[in-house]
Amino acid sequence: MPERELARFGAAAFEGAQGVLPSPFPRIIGPKAKEYLREVVESGLTVDMVGRFERAFAEALGVKHVIACPGCTPALHVLMAASGFEPGDEIIVSPITDYGTIAGLVRENLIPVFADVPPGAVNITAETIEPHITDRTRAILVVHFTGLICEMDEINALAARHGLVVYEDACQAVFGQYKGRLAGTLGHAAGFSFDSEKTMGSDIGGAIATNDGELAERCRFIGQSRGGVEDPPFGRRHVEAGYAMRMPQCTAAICLAQLEIAQENVAQRDKMIRLLSELIGQIDGVRPLPIPDYVDVYSAWMFGMSLEPGRFRCSTDEFAAQLSEAGIPGAGTARYYLLPEACTFLERWAREGRYPYSIPPASREYHYGAGACPNAAAFLETFIRWSTFCEKYTERDCELAAEIVRKVAEANRR
Ligand SMILES: Cc1ncc(COP(=O)(O)O)c(C=O)c1O
Repeated sequence: MPERELARFGAAAFEGAQGVLPSPFPRIIGPKAKEYLREVVESGLTVDMVGRFERAFAEALGVKHVIACPGCTPALHVLMAASGFEPGDEIIVSPITDYGTIAGLVRENLIPVFADVPPGAVNITAETIEPHITDRTRAILVVHFTGLICEMDEINALAARHGLVVYEDACQAVFGQYKGRLAGTLGHAAGFSFDSEKTMGSDIGGAIATNDGELAERCRFIGQSRGGVEDPPFGRRHVEAGYAMRMPQCTAAICLAQLEIAQENVAQRDKMIRLLSELIGQIDGVRPLPIPDYVDVYSAWMFGMSLEPGRFRCSTDEFAAQLSEAGIPGAGTARYYLLPEACTFLERWAREGRYPYSIPPASREYHYGAGACPNAAAFLETFIRWSTFCEKYTERDCELAAEIVRKVAEANRR
């Protein structure tokens, strides 16, 4: 067996990321978590905590349906399985994201088509999506990366012109607001993550939100009831190849408690990320991610900044390493978010013509790797992130972070 280091998640991923700034772990947990967990146990597992959480989250978002799942990876998987797409259908997706965005669609034999980002941006736009629309395109799956919401009105208008559905990966943007509307309510349906690192960090958990009753019913049927229907006197028949991706009751108990403090936490994140961005923006040669005017609430999950090319003597990696040494926890580049390059199996499948890249059902040749999205690749070459942002940041922490970045910038300036 070859020696390999497996990916780490949750608190384990933060081990060794020491520094002078706050860490999201140990997470702040809503005060009622123990009470809700006790209810689950003391009821002998008869309490419907999942239903309670679903109703509460639906109400908070202002949507008709929430389907709680074991994570956002399964939530988006369920969504793809329930959408009635055919193998080989294409889904246009953001190239800068986590694998969880596409895991389900590739497992449903759908084909991810990565639209590039505009130069210097993290999110896709209607303009970058449009050239990728073919007669096999069925959906656009946008990601609000770091919590910055995509320009959704334009994307929705494009989708309407081509008869496509729009799904949002709102994992990093819970309770973020776009033109007065909440992330995850801006398209046809959305996936959320309550993974322990996320803003509403609970354990591992997620949800689908939608106003489409038929889609919600299919998500429950295919995604949670294993495609099973009652057919007396025979009993249960599986009329579809479904899944059992249901959220556990104990996770729902923590999710419910976290929901009760989420909006307050998001307001603090919004305030602090704007301050941090302003301070970092004053440092010559360093650019924080721009916050578009239409983002009313920046539900920031991660802070990121770019180095202007040619302004420093050192590489981006060296700059990040110096930040880390100076006390910024986990500072590093984030090339691994370039999904067409990170998912090496995609290029292999496409090259080998492995199903669904066989013709039929694929409609054409596909290429992945860094060359598929040159703007995204170039963006990530100069981009630095550090450990996940969190509601524990104070004004003093933002000033401290900016002081460190300024010192490293001065030490390396050309
Ligand atoms: C943008 C994005 N999409 C999907 C996921 C997957 O979410 P989960 O861990 O809940 O499956 C993540 C988590 O890191 C994410 O950041």
